Amino acid sequence: MVDQSIVGQHLESVGRATATANFALSKYWGKQTGGVQQPAVPSISVGIQGLTAEAEVRLNYGTNQEHEIRIAGNPANEKTCRRIETLLDAVFAHSGRKAQAIIRSDTRFPIAAGLASSAAGMAAVAGAAWIAAGLDPGDRSAIADCARLGSGSACRSVHDGYVAWEPTDDGSIIRQVASADHWPLELCLVRLDDRPKKVSSADGMLHCMETSPVWSSWVERAFLDAVEIEQAILDKDLEKLADLVEANCLLMHATTLTARPPIFYMQGRTLQVMETVTSLRRDGLPCFFTVDAGPNVKVFTAPGTAQTIKTALEDMAPIDVYAIGGGLTAEESSI
Ligand code: DP6
Repeated sequence: MVDQSIVGQHLESVGRATATANFALSKYWGKQTGGVQQPAVPSISVGIQGLTAEAEVRLNYGTNQEHEIRIAGNPANEKTCRRIETLLDAVFAHSGRKAQAIIRSDTRFPIAAGLASSAAGMAAVAGAAWIAAGLDPGDRSAIADCARLGSGSACRSVHDGYVAWEPTDDGSIIRQVASADHWPLELCLVRLDDRPKKVSSADGMLHCMETSPVWSSWVERAFLDAVEIEQAILDKDLEKLADLVEANCLLMHATTLTARPPIFYMQGRTLQVMETVTSLRRDGLPCFFTVDAGPNVKVFTAPGTAQTIKTALEDMAPIDVYAIGGGLTAEESSI
């Protein structure tokens, strides 16, 4: 599978992969204490076609030089480098061979604007590194486990469609709940602000866990929500899913708003869009909102209704329409 050749003195191999963003219907918000990027609560996401990241990983064996990591053309910051090094070490533990990695990754959408670019990017890096290391691209669970070390939510980008990520006694598991074909919901992405978020998800989760008085209610409810959200997906019950997803999102944000000091991921306009979406639904339009660690609103709609809902919302902000689907494509490698 992997094309390896002698380049100069070094044995070198290359892997390429693309992965799509995923958005959580039931949020990953909290890490297990003492675990390595393991979730405190279960989450369920859906992959988004078109919000794509690409990565190329070139592995040089026979050199001790440091890894070289560039994202969107720029050297990666220290925190991202550390996370990618951990991800690479996990890949090398599978292949049994260490190497210097030269990594290029890019997204086709704004980085860090609550658009899950790190999830797509880290899933693509994990897929490309896995391929470059000569490992079996069919082993999705193992790739997801490596991607998780780059960014927790990245492990959900390894599968397409509806994906669950659940804590277990000794870590976590990832599984596909249903393919996108099962229920091809659509997405209106209401773009209120494309700037990077002020507090990273990792810092936000930790701060909320340490200081929010509603944290234990959140954790308890998140386990129940995941079960009910999965059932609503399997039943294709939009009314039920809408109620559960919005409540899950608002309880997650309740932890941020009640943290000390509070974290304001949402803006005033976020609330206006959320309120409008609930009144559109009361008027019979099949849609519901969710919001992550940023101000932008993701409005999911029943199959075939995204354009109608876009028209109803478009005087509030620019809106992009996406189909669901997504997942990871790890390509044949070549030098
Ligand atoms: C609010 O996966 O970005 O989007 O594991 O620290 O990289 P790290 O966090 P990240 O957190 C995502 C948080 C969220 C909810 C979700 O996607 O489930």
